[in-house]
Amino acid sequence: MKIFAANWKLQKSPKEAREFFTELLGGANRPILSKKDRRLIIFPSSPCLEAASDLLGASPVWWGAQNCYSEGKGAFTGEISAQIVKDLGGQVILLGHSERRVLFNEGNEFIAKKVGYVQSLGLIPMLCFGETLSEREGGKTFSVIGSQLKEGLKLADRSKQILLAYEPVWAIGTGKVASLEQVQEAHQQIYQILSELGFNSQVPILYGGSVKPENAKELISIPHVDGFLIGGASLETKSFLAIADA
Ligand code: 13P
Repeated sequence: MKIFAANWKLQKSPKEAREFFTELLGGANRPILSKKDRRLIIFPSSPCLEAASDLLGASPVWWGAQNCYSEGKGAFTGEISAQIVKDLGGQVILLGHSERRVLFNEGNEFIAKKVGYVQSLGLIPMLCFGETLSEREGGKTFSVIGSQLKEGLKLADRSKQILLAYEPVWAIGTGKVASLEQVQEAHQQIYQILSELGFNSQVPILYGGSVKPENAKELISIPHVDGFLIGGASLETKSFLAIADA
């Protein structure tokens, strides 16, 4: 099973989201959506979650929020409730994206709480991690990835579903995709780290960072690359579907 997840970040109005979903479903008759060997996931911005619930609810496409708080309700102005996403019918929550880590100072400990909380609701967390350019250049790639996984998964229930997305920060939105060798090496290491941490060998590891229809085919054939987390190229149905068809 390969997983193709769209991270829209802060793009698209609810009206544009509805147009995208309608086009994606193609009259509920798009064969790729119901192929047993692939799963499409959309992470729209939070004002578009209701549109996702309305239009994707009865489809095989999963959807969810790009972040959430570590509790479901209370005095937490401005936060996103995974409980509300669940009530709306969503299945997945994206957590620990590098933009959350870098721009909003989210650390592994806070992210770990969210991972545990999301799983406790019966939803699936998709935990993102990856090194910055200076960490890579300083030879720290695998120690950084190792601690992001070890600490970020501290409260994760090994018996419940989880998705992982390796996104080297320097490859996000830069057009600078990691080389096939770099992706292969990283995914192999991640696979090993997960087994040392006691996770099932079936935990999917997605790659993210400048994935496009032009590079998707090569990247998806790398061992332990179980799908993609796609930013820019997920904003148009044509390029998103071309990647999912790779
Ligand atoms: P791009 O595909 O635009 O590089 O974004 C990757 C990303 O951050 C997905 O979460």
